[in-house]
Amino acid sequence: MHPLEQLRDDALREIEAASDEQALEATRIKYLGKSGSISAWGEQMKTLGKEERPVIGRLLNETRNAVTVAIEKRAEILRSQKESVALAGIDISLPGVTVPSAYSGYSGYSTRSIALTGYSGYLPLERGSRHPLTQMLQQSIQIFRRMGFSLADGPDIEDEWHCFDALNTPPDHPARNEQDTFYLPDGRLLRTHTSTVQIRAMESAPPPLRVIAPGAAYRRDEIDATHSAQFHQIEGLYVDENVSVADLKGALEFFLRELFGPETDVQFRPHYFPFTEPSLEVYMRSKALKGGERWIEVAGCGMVHPAVFEAVNKARSDKAYDAEKWSGYAFGLGMDRLAMILFDIPDIRLFAQNDLRFLRQFA
Ligand code: DAH
Repeated sequence: MHPLEQLRDDALREIEAASDEQALEATRIKYLGKSGSISAWGEQMKTLGKEERPVIGRLLNETRNAVTVAIEKRAEILRSQKESVALAGIDISLPGVTVPSAYSGYSGYSTRSIALTGYSGYLPLERGSRHPLTQMLQQSIQIFRRMGFSLADGPDIEDEWHCFDALNTPPDHPARNEQDTFYLPDGRLLRTHTSTVQIRAMESAPPPLRVIAPGAAYRRDEIDATHSAQFHQIEGLYVDENVSVADLKGALEFFLRELFGPETDVQFRPHYFPFTEPSLEVYMRSKALKGGERWIEVAGCGMVHPAVFEAVNKARSDKAYDAEKWSGYAFGLGMDRLAMILFDIPDIRLFAQNDLRFLRQFA
């Protein structure tokens, strides 16, 4: 082994062993400093003969490079170790101290960035608040839970079968038109309603069944004060023996009166949906609310169509949903609409604009 190679191996071992920045710096000086041993070899080069010089020169360069790179790598490791030791002493999950109003201009700092700067005065902590749609959703879920409904879930990206076919919606139905529905290139789609979850819930469990499914739905609507490409619904499904329209009306009346107060009037008007028979639209008004004289449509509902049970049976390959034995009601509530009524919000687009001046009003 050439003495230079020996020197390189020694240097690399020492670098690896350097346990802090000072030790590393001492090693650097020992080898690469002005009078370090690698530098000394540079001086010796002059004394070498013509044949030896290029060979030793290359070896010297390789040695210097290897040592330089190793030092940089080690320095990086020591730096990050030091940082994690410093951070280990800080509980970044601890909330800050509530800011006295004089400091409230300091909004927008996270507790963590303040911890890192070592700032130890009043830590500005701004408490967030729930989005009005979330508040609406949580209140609604609570009411339905008290009525014995449990939560069901389904994907936003759906197939045509769950969104249309299984819901007795024929291929020529306008809702299946590309003008109304967002299709993906592979033929899947963004669900146009949460009724898809009726099918998914029945596929995965036999009757009796009592579920709600809150979630987003998507339509290629012209966007205006009451239409958004993404909106929110709560789907409901109750399947049992002898379920009737009276049960459906009772459940929805109870829900709306819990939400908007006992003075709320509820009206059911005949309508058409492919997946229910009979089908109804639900209107409400309440003197307790602003503009309370007006009837507002808040939901679609009806008795589950036997063709829907039939489709579910096919998918399950059994006869669990026997329309002779079981009956059910279903509904779809428009959550954005309900939140707009409850909070007196004039424009659905406000929900998605992330404007703090708007959001703070519901804190
Ligand atoms: N899916 C319908 C819509 O988005 C609403 C609806 C109507 C849901 C009737 C239902 C129902 O469950 O039974 O317009």
